[in-house]
Amino acid sequence: MSDALRARLVDGIRAAGGVTSARVEAALRRVPRHLFLPGAALPDAYADEPFVTRRDAAGRALSSASQPTIVAMMLEQLAVEPGDRVLEIGAGTGYNAALLRELTGPAGTVTTIDIDPDVTAEARSHLAASGHRARIVTGDGGAGVPSGAPYDRIIVTAGAWDLPPAWWDQLAPHGRLVVPFRWRGMTRSLALDRAAPDVLAARSARVCGFIPMRGADGEVVREPAPGVRVVHDADQPAGDLAGVLDAPADETWTGLRVPDWDAVLTGGWLRLCASRPDACRITADATATKASPAIPPMTPALADAAGLAYVVARRTGDGTAELGVRGHRAPHLVAALTETLRDPRPAPSLTILRNAEGATPPAGAGHIVKHHTILRLAG
Ligand SMILES: C[S@@+](CC[C@H](N)C(=O)[O-])C[C@H]1O[C@@H](n2cnc3c(N)ncnc32)[C@H](O)[C@@H]1O
Repeated sequence: MSDALRARLVDGIRAAGGVTSARVEAALRRVPRHLFLPGAALPDAYADEPFVTRRDAAGRALSSASQPTIVAMMLEQLAVEPGDRVLEIGAGTGYNAALLRELTGPAGTVTTIDIDPDVTAEARSHLAASGHRARIVTGDGGAGVPSGAPYDRIIVTAGAWDLPPAWWDQLAPHGRLVVPFRWRGMTRSLALDRAAPDVLAARSARVCGFIPMRGADGEVVREPAPGVRVVHDADQPAGDLAGVLDAPADETWTGLRVPDWDAVLTGGWLRLCASRPDACRITADATATKASPAIPPMTPALADAAGLAYVVARRTGDGTAELGVRGHRAPHLVAALTETLRDPRPAPSLTILRNAEGATPPAGAGHIVKHHTILRLAG
């Protein structure tokens, strides 16, 4: 029964375009995901859903097996070659390490690290049950695993707010790093190739959501109303948004039509990050506001000390959605957001520069400065 469920899962991912290479597809078909989720019923182990294995006292997920479609997408981004030395940050259940082992073959190596000793103990027993060899380390993945470096490929399977020096140091000169990178409240899985010792060029950037990596973080969450969160970075302008949503709404409809919300998140969102220091994300629980249309979880927004504006969409008769902008106490932000949505230019390219200690980072539009890295959005 598990074989049939696994075949159906992979067929579905393939039909949706989530897996494109024969090698990744073969790995997904071979590795029995249920051996990595002994606490799950078989249909749940083979659903195209993340499966949470650990939560904190407040119910927030601490560890999980990621959604198979996202696992496949990131393995496609990583493009492992037989014989590669691979480091994974975030061992979790060990499932992805087994897939990586299939991709490196016997000539390569897989090292995986997790911060939680209970998680690594379980990953070890799951990998033994499936017969995949990997080196499993307990510790903070922010330090990497220097003893196995350099790595041809590094894959991070928790949401990283920065790229710590160890990853720069342990990635081989020709290496590729795949990381769910967080900025301005959103997460994108970046496939980064080393273009120079201190420069990583993004080959692709795919929208995703991930359990945040534990450790130093520069994300700030504000709650202008219960169940409503504005998520941004610590370097951004912050005002007191309390009660802002009670102020009268100012709504503009742009006439722009998009096939789906993803179209906003790819082009518009990146242009917004490139041009606006106040770009952020707003999200609201289903019953938190009476806003109509409702606020989807990944909604691009602008927020400053005065007020807030965010993207809205309404269905049209032809199956597309028309984009609009709603603002509270912020006609200047409504105008700026509307202008960015209307900007016909393609999404900017993404480059990550190492932010060396003591150096003066480039300032101004298109640069997002973190502790160890600078994200440059150009074009
Ligand atoms: C989404 S799960 C990883 C899924 C895993 N790759 C799999 O195949 O099941 C994220 C993992 O990252 C781990 N993690 C979070 N912060 C970490 C850190 N600073 N260093 C190492 N692991 C960390 C969590 O304990 C959790 O197990």
